[in-house]
Amino acid sequence: MLAAMPQIRLLPGDVAVEVPSGTTLLDAVVTAGLPIARSCGADGLCGKCALRILAGVDALSPEADDETRIKARNRVEPELRLACRVRVLGDVTATASYW
Ligand code: FES
Repeated sequence: MLAAMPQIRLLPGDVAVEVPSGTTLLDAVVTAGLPIARSCGADGLCGKCALRILAGVDALSPEADDETRIKARNRVEPELRLACRVRVLGDVTATASYW
C-alpha cells in the first residue's frame, strides 16, 4: 500500500523509521541509524548495499535495467534489491546479514 510517510522496518533488530515517500531505501536505513555496506558512495556501482526484502516488495520502485545489470555484474542474488537504487513508496520490511 502506498503511503506519504512509509514505515521501514529493519530486522532482526526490529528498528523502524518513517521516511517521506520516494526516499531511497539506503537513506531510510541511514535515517534509522543502522549501518549499510557501500563502497561506491551510492553511485550504483558496487552492489554492496543489497538488502533482502521480507515484506512490501510491491511498495518499492520497480527494478530498472541498471539495477539488474549492477546486480549481475557484482554477483548479487537476483531477489535482493540495491538500497541505493530503490525508492520506498509504502511500508517495507528488510534485512541484511550483518544487522
Ligand atoms: S552503494 Fe554501491 S551499488 Fe548501492
